[in-house]
Amino acid sequence: METADRIRPALGLMDPYSPGLSIEEIKGRYGLAQVIKLASNENPLGVSPVVQKIISGYAAMAFRYPRPGSPDLRRAIAREFEIPEERIVVGNGSDEIIDLIVRALAVPGRDHVLSYSSNFSMYSQVCQVCGVEYRQVPRRADFTQPLEELVQACDENTAVVFVTSPDNPTGLASQGEEIAILRGMLPPSTLLVVDEAYIDFAWPIEQYTMLQYKEQLSNIVVVRTFSKAYGLAGLRVGFGIMDDWLADVLLKAKSPFSVNILAEKAGVAALQDQEFYLATLDLVLKERERMSKALVKLGCEVTPSQANFIMFRPPAPAEDVFAKLLAKGVIVRLLASFHLPDHLRVSIGRQDENKLFLKTLEDILNG
Ligand SMILES: Cc1ncc(COP(=O)(O)O)c(C=O)c1O
Repeated sequence: METADRIRPALGLMDPYSPGLSIEEIKGRYGLAQVIKLASNENPLGVSPVVQKIISGYAAMAFRYPRPGSPDLRRAIAREFEIPEERIVVGNGSDEIIDLIVRALAVPGRDHVLSYSSNFSMYSQVCQVCGVEYRQVPRRADFTQPLEELVQACDENTAVVFVTSPDNPTGLASQGEEIAILRGMLPPSTLLVVDEAYIDFAWPIEQYTMLQYKEQLSNIVVVRTFSKAYGLAGLRVGFGIMDDWLADVLLKAKSPFSVNILAEKAGVAALQDQEFYLATLDLVLKERERMSKALVKLGCEVTPSQANFIMFRPPAPAEDVFAKLLAKGVIVRLLASFHLPDHLRVSIGRQDENKLFLKTLEDILNG
């Protein structure tokens, strides 16, 4: 039998996940000493010094298996967000929570999963691996997500609907109140997943987060991550808040040791380190405003962002601008893989990084 015939057809046809380029790759490719990466929406301040100390302190525990279900972190999240522990599932990044939800609820060949066009690729990736049909509702021309069209696209076989707010790659956010109305209009057998990976950067957060409805709403999962505002992307920690019955199912389906000991300890410490968290928000919100204005001045079409990145359309072909930025040591994200080939996405970095990005972009646009 040929190798290709041994692989499930869905996997043979699947494109691999397309990550942001790494600093080492670009240093090597262009022989550059200095490269800045504003491509993966990581924390501009790096890892909190308090959390670094905790990670070092627990290094000697790395020979032990972690406790299944990450009970210490689960308790800390429950305390922080005032939610019963039974409703929390901690995962190896929020990617694992997304993966578990599809695996647990969508029956291949019968059900489908629904979301928007040009969105975070993990939803489609997970569906393909599971052999579950993935349907996408088109966005409006201004990239906003028409919630009512999601309802129209739903039927009794829509197992899961993903809404990302704030959205990747546009940075646009839907009001919490609108999403609550959407929940009411979806079929009762459909699970609504609200991916709030970037919610910490939405201002004011109360207007956007679904956690404000935590007592009222059921059949909804709020997905959060430690990769962005808490600066732990490399450790892989995220969580979902959901109904108890669903948390039980996901914990059963989950690989028991997928969240490692250092990730769990770091997550607990990160929740306590309010100083670092608030410094991150302060930097991102101020720099987001400054960068948005500067990009407009350079002739870019800027989509208003509630996240720690900005999507923009440069006044020159995006692919050329992207390549020229790379060659000068500035990594941003070309959105061709999101089917938005005229657009770029830049993460909000430190002030010096943002200045360097803007200066390099200005030089490129001025030829
Ligand atoms: C919208 C969205 N959801 C989830 C994730 C995954 O985050 P994690 O690092 O927690 O797996 C990302 C990562 O960039 C994202 O953009």
